[in-house]
Amino acid sequence: MMEMCKKYKPIGKLWVGLDLMITVTQPKDIELLTETFLDKSQQYKVIKEGLGDGLITASVEKWKLHREAIIHNFDENILSSYTKVFVKHAKILANTLKKDYVKTRFDVYWKFFGCTFDIICESCIDLNFDSVQQNQYMLWIARSTEITGHRLFHPLHQIDILWDLGSVSNELTLISWGIVKFVRQIVARIKFQNLGKNQDEIPQNFINNLMTLTYDKKIWTEEELVDETQTILAAGTNSTALTNSFFMLMMAIHQDVQEKIYQELFTIFGEDNRDVTLEDLAQMTYLERSIKETMRLFPAVPIIGRSIDKDFILDGYVLPKGSSLLIPIAVVHRDPSIWKIPLKFDPDRFLPEEFQKIPRGAYMPFGLPPRNCIGSKFAMVSMKVVLSTILRNFRVVSCQYRSIEEIKFRINILIKATNGYGITLESRLKQQ
Ligand code: HEM
Repeated sequence: MMEMCKKYKPIGKLWVGLDLMITVTQPKDIELLTETFLDKSQQYKVIKEGLGDGLITASVEKWKLHREAIIHNFDENILSSYTKVFVKHAKILANTLKKDYVKTRFDVYWKFFGCTFDIICESCIDLNFDSVQQNQYMLWIARSTEITGHRLFHPLHQIDILWDLGSVSNELTLISWGIVKFVRQIVARIKFQNLGKNQDEIPQNFINNLMTLTYDKKIWTEEELVDETQTILAAGTNSTALTNSFFMLMMAIHQDVQEKIYQELFTIFGEDNRDVTLEDLAQMTYLERSIKETMRLFPAVPIIGRSIDKDFILDGYVLPKGSSLLIPIAVVHRDPSIWKIPLKFDPDRFLPEEFQKIPRGAYMPFGLPPRNCIGSKFAMVSMKVVLSTILRNFRVVSCQYRSIEEIKFRINILIKATNGYGITLESRLKQQ
């Protein structure tokens, strides 16, 4: 698929079963088409099975109403109130790593997944879970992403009858039931927690705001509440964990960049072991550029799709109604006609004076408006908190790869390093 996008530029077409998929790679086309077509392509029906019918997969009508109801849960004010939750879980992660993972090679992905899961749970739904529930949920999400991604690009598996005959289809159904049951239990726990409380005693967070719409104002059904909760849990955890994991590989491979980030952190904190504040985060500009560069090379969501719901002429080509538009973010982010030496890890591409030379529509780790990621600021702040905490405490000495070229990855719904995220850490604390 990715090879095809590279070969047939700027517009390509591909039949998967009976579905016509059109790929575009020119930034100006991508910008125009993502503004014009808001409905998700039919591949998202498959994603719906594992994710529920929340913002990511919803029809345009439903999406507009829900986005308007949800978006303020991610505004600057609410976000700043979440920062202490990010700090708490970043410190818990650093302590776990300190205890058991210094100077041994380990796969950092599951550690970040646990951390991002705890962050979303405590900030958006105000609950904590034990490690058994956490592990179960993470395994479900990882496996359902894998199964769904596999189905998406397999022509025969597009045909429901054939798909339903296979054993993985049953596995996905069982996992989806498990996830929905888990989310329903969350809703029941919150309902119980809020019982008998006045409105002003209930914390204003994502789930409580949606519960008000459902049970007090009766605008939403319980199913909509469950779908959106399921979506936020899935969308906010794995993507951030993957980005953090790739970032650590980048640090191991590019020691000079890591050192520069450490110097930036040292200028802000010196020897002081104090918690990160919002003011500190604003000063971490090189760290931010390094995260952006990681997302350029390894965009957690490597491909997005829209439904072409009317015939559309693009540069003399007809995009026929009923076809699917696929935007291969991972290909555009490595396009040598846009990015000089694309496989070079260079955070300074994101210096304002450099980035302004890049056309709009060429960099889109969080998608493009209006149907872009609702949690992009949440993700950026939480990554800065977690990664700065880790880099203040540890040096990433090495990883299982020596270069970006060596990192083979699989692309389906999310991007994933085929051989994992093995890294080795060394403590920076003098007494250890
Ligand atoms: C590094 C982390 C993340 C990346 C790279 C990422 C990327 C994306 C992308 C590319 C989309 C557009 C998908 C499409 O067009 O089909 C998206 C949508 C979405 N993301 Fe994220 N995301 C991240 C973190 C988060 C977080 C932390 C949350 C929530 C707390 C979140 C919630 C959502 C939701 C709800 C949508 C659907 C938005 C809509 O259609 O209105 N994401 N994300």
